[in-house]
Amino acid sequence: MTRIRHVHTGATAVLVLIGSLLTACSSSPGTSAAGAGSCAEAPNGTHIAADAPTATGDIATNPEIGTGYRTGMSPVRTRTYMVSAANPIATQAACRVLASGGTAADALVAAQMVLGLVEPQATGIGGGAFLMYYNAATKSVDAYDGREIAPASATENYLRWTSDADHTPPQPSTTASGRSIGVPGVLRMLRMAHDDHGKQSWRDLFTPAIDLADHGFPISPRMAAEIAASAKDLARDDNARAYFLKPDGSPKPEGYTITDPAMAKTLSAIASDGPDAFYTGAIAKDIVDTTGATSAGRTPGQITLADLAGYRAEKRTAICTDYRTHILCGMPGPSSGGMTVAATMGILENFDLASLAPDHPDRDGGVPKAQAVHLISEAERLAYADRDKYVADPDFVPLPGNSPDTLLNKPYLKQRAALINPAHTMGSAQPGDFGPVPLGTGPQQPEHGTSHISVVDEYGNAAAMTTTVNAAFGSFHVVDGFVLNNQLEDFSSIPTGADGAPLANRVQGGKRPRSSMSPTLVFDRDPDGSRGRLAYVTGSPGGSVIIQFVVKTLVGLLDWGLNPQQAVSAPDFGAANTPVTGIGGEHPDIKATDNGEHDPLVRQLRAMGHQVSVVQQSSGLSALKREPGGWIGGADPRREGAVMGDTR
Ligand code: GLY
Repeated sequence: MTRIRHVHTGATAVLVLIGSLLTACSSSPGTSAAGAGSCAEAPNGTHIAADAPTATGDIATNPEIGTGYRTGMSPVRTRTYMVSAANPIATQAACRVLASGGTAADALVAAQMVLGLVEPQATGIGGGAFLMYYNAATKSVDAYDGREIAPASATENYLRWTSDADHTPPQPSTTASGRSIGVPGVLRMLRMAHDDHGKQSWRDLFTPAIDLADHGFPISPRMAAEIAASAKDLARDDNARAYFLKPDGSPKPEGYTITDPAMAKTLSAIASDGPDAFYTGAIAKDIVDTTGATSAGRTPGQITLADLAGYRAEKRTAICTDYRTHILCGMPGPSSGGMTVAATMGILENFDLASLAPDHPDRDGGVPKAQAVHLISEAERLAYADRDKYVADPDFVPLPGNSPDTLLNKPYLKQRAALINPAHTMGSAQPGDFGPVPLGTGPQQPEHGTSHISVVDEYGNAAAMTTTVNAAFGSFHVVDGFVLNNQLEDFSSIPTGADGAPLANRVQGGKRPRSSMSPTLVFDRDPDGSRGRLAYVTGSPGGSVIIQFVVKTLVGLLDWGLNPQQAVSAPDFGAANTPVTGIGGEHPDIKATDNGEHDPLVRQLRAMGHQVSVVQQSSGLSALKREPGGWIGGADPRREGAVMGDTR
């Protein structure tokens, strides 16, 4: 491995700038060794280039490019409030909201608006999100759905053919055409959550982002790497080219100060007039025109003003299931995240994972035992098999038995667990059989990148929000200062499986594409079996691999007693329903050279029949845990995230 540079060089400069943009923080200075003072970040860890193959060009398994690993991160401890977001500027904006008495909902609004500027490759108001929210006063859990929808006119071949008469694929690619763009949902969802749980004025929560857009900010190392990797696609769109590239066409580099006056104007309108300023009027018209652009040979999308004006966020019923002494609450459809995490954990409940904890875990989490990776990845194969067949937008495709319980009840998951051979991998799993359900199984579209925010506030409320434009820079269309998503590529582009039956996740007008986003709240289980105190908040970006990242973290926290920093830092591992088991080669304790040939864990798994990939993983996990005296949290060493709060 080669040490290349301190990851926080750019971030520190950014914090100096943002300090002058934001109101003074009332919290006291922190003493934590980890990445935070009070709403400030301390240097923590170094940026390491792992000797592992990178995933560029392999977006099916690695949604965003790997940008290294910060070794030796230690957790942050706070007294009453805490936030972890994927960029220190966004974390700080949210932290300052919390420090001034804001709720977790208030902090999310501030963080999301700033993330759209400093992490546009992953998230922004042109995308969608899912939010799990705990209201401490009412002890209720809300699941907010801000998923994008397909235009009403979209047919089942919308993503693969120019029209039913012209079977040419969308140009220059489905991703970079207007066809991949769904009606954005994050703003309507955040407004709904803010109406329900906000304390501070909607308008004021936009101030940090508007100031940043006006005055500029230095491009972070990760954003610079993503711009460079996407320069060719960004060059096709006039607005994207002008914003992300220099006049000579070269990518704007790390540290380059970038301003976004168009975004400042857009955010000011939404701050004053609410989401209607986005879903109707001039901005809506600009979105329709940009989606329909044909310049540079792009196939136009079909979003209309009516599609935008008609967009509704939804409040859905959270999926809450027992796991040993805890209760896990996750997102229902159209995300498959809550179902698939719950199914995996429910299968794993049948095994003694505590006895398989890593030996002597250090700050980077320790190396998991091969038997643990085997059991967990087998459980994931079984859970993904069911989700691939049965989970889609519930407003279009009901679950078997019309209830998550059909796929999550304990006797069923025990039967699934019995399919696991402790000594050899099953390769691929078959879905459960629920009688005459008219659905096929077929190839699934790759799913891509994203961002995650975990928050707890001084009132005891908590939020886990995963937010996305899908692939890096979404569809590469930029309008009024923000990136438009390519979320419709989370649909199956083909409508039927090999057996000719329709796929649950096929494109339909007005439908939401299936997601893997898995924002998760974990509660203690009281002796009477009821939901007790909130114990953990977690989630991650990472496309279809999100489920594996979150499962790894939950097992680390709940079965292995790792602290949140160790749990997120530990090697990423797992499997979707294929013979390939991923072991994140970016981790300093995984020997990724020669395709992992010299790594003991990789060798043991291969001996059990696993096709092991040591491609770098690009999780962006965060995890917060209640402990005596307050909270302890960790941010993923693989990205630029930071944890902040009223440190102790
Ligand atoms: N686009 C990532 C996901 O929804 O899972």
